[in-house]
Amino acid sequence: MRFAGAITGFALALAACAATEPDPEPEVGRALYAQYCVICHGESGRGDGVLARDLPVPPADLTGLAARNGGAFPWSDVMAKVHGYAGRAHVMPEFGTVLTGPTVMWRDEAGTRMETPAGLLAIARYLASIQA
Ligand code: HEC
Repeated sequence: MRFAGAITGFALALAACAATEPDPEPEVGRALYAQYCVICHGESGRGDGVLARDLPVPPADLTGLAARNGGAFPWSDVMAKVHGYAGRAHVMPEFGTVLTGPTVMWRDEAGTRMETPAGLLAIARYLASIQA
């Protein structure tokens, strides 16, 4: 049960903070990104993954999410898209079925408390940390 205990501790640590506060577990989001996203969006997040050139539409530059949103990281939009966003040409996969597991409460940009999978929030926090 040590594994379950670690997950619970992670969820509680996240639950205590708003998404915009420093991530207590930054390596979790980085590891999930490496596992699921690097192949298209690349190590840098700029859309230069090994699969990128074979796709009909280029993977988005994930270091420019804040810049393209007037300088504010679009937390809710990013999480909605990663969770289940068909996107252009249905190239960007939906990760809602993969990023399941324990949920945490976080506050969105408007201060509304939202329940969301811990892994999804961890990826969003990682992306927020690599903004240009
Ligand atoms: C199979 C390749 C592929 C994988 C794997 C992939 N993406 Fe994408 N992603 C894309 C493509 C292509 C686009 C842009 C085109 C579109 O809208 O479909 C995109 C768009 C996005 C967007 C929207 C960007 C914007 O400007 O609104 C976000 C956010 C995103 N991806 C995050 C992720 C994350 C996080 C992961 C890993 C959990 C991931 N993607 C995995 C191909 C991929």
